[in-house]
Amino acid sequence: MKKTLLMKVDPFEPDPQKIRAAAKLIKSGGLVAFPTETVYGLGADALNAKAVSALFAAKKRPLDNPPIVHIAEAEDVLSLTTYVPDIAHKLMNLFWPGPLTLIFKHSEVVPDVTVAGLNTVAIRMPRHNVALALIKESRCPIAAPSANLSGKPSPTNAQHVWTDLNGRIDAILDSGQTHVGIESTVLDLTVSPPQILRPGGISHEALTAAIGEVNLNPTVKGGRILTGEQARSPGMKYRHYAPEAEIVLIEGHIKEVLPRISELAESYTNKGKSVGILATDETQKLYPAFVVKSLGKRDNLEEIAHNLFKRLREFDSEKVDIIIAEGFPFKGLGLAVMNRLRKASGKKPSKKIHS
Ligand code: TXA
Ligand code: MG
Repeated sequence: MKKTLLMKVDPFEPDPQKIRAAAKLIKSGGLVAFPTETVYGLGADALNAKAVSALFAAKKRPLDNPPIVHIAEAEDVLSLTTYVPDIAHKLMNLFWPGPLTLIFKHSEVVPDVTVAGLNTVAIRMPRHNVALALIKESRCPIAAPSANLSGKPSPTNAQHVWTDLNGRIDAILDSGQTHVGIESTVLDLTVSPPQILRPGGISHEALTAAIGEVNLNPTVKGGRILTGEQARSPGMKYRHYAPEAEIVLIEGHIKEVLPRISELAESYTNKGKSVGILATDETQKLYPAFVVKSLGKRDNLEEIAHNLFKRLREFDSEKVDIIIAEGFPFKGLGLAVMNRLRKASGKKPSKKIHS
């Protein structure tokens, strides 16, 4: 077991000495968790194959699911890729730094392990002073998947990272709670029109307004776990974002959802299960007999996204057996929220398949 160093770092004006210490770890092949505007990432030198292999091992992540490569200057895209379409320049100008990951054909400098053997690479520039300072000081692109154990909800504060990875990584930079709360949007630019592989912090509507037609990969709305060829983005194959408890997602008009949830919660309770309900400010008082948590105001999808992973992890601390969740509309950040809830719902897979 490693000794994991925990360093508090000011999110706006990071102490250069702490950033230097963290960059030194990255440069020597170490693993450092750091905040971004979306969720915490677990960073390794993206051009160091050994370091990236260690990153997969620390997270217990399947080797066929590549991480996102994080950069601090838009021009760093050039050395990592073979072709940057005009549309990419437009998107980078509009949305970077920010929660948008772009998929390009990669150049030869990128090790195979960093892209899981694919001919493409996922790149983004995070909107967070700590992340940007760390990348600049490390003088290398940083490969960083979300800093959770594979299959768990992504971490939105340093405590979540500590719970999952203490003893498995070198350091954690603690800058408090992240702002967006769900991961970046992953947009494939190697197909035309561009295709959203994972909805996230930049909405489908915002992308369409910027560049015209943008397709949704069919898996974006489905909770189905895909295998092999069907999965364009390797991450789509796996059940994700799931706390220990089983999640049951109830979709539909909220007027119909409410009685359905109460009825289900009662029937689980009668079977001796402890029930948690993931509700909203407007509905939380309507389920008096259960462990209820609110994600925020129903029509504030930014707030709902910001709180989602945190609340899912809180249910683990309360040791509930079942979480029943209210659904949300598929507009704006609601698309990303529903994608995460659908992927987290369903039966727990066997530990052998996915940890
Ligand atoms: O907000 C975020 O994106 C966070 C922070 C830390 O930046 N990172 C994150 O990384 O969520 P991760 O590794 O948990 O998710 C990366 C996603 C996965 O779904 C993966 O399959 C997909 O990006 N991806 C990575 N490389 C890809 C590629 N070459 N082609 C298609 N999908 C790719
Ligand atoms: Mg992840």
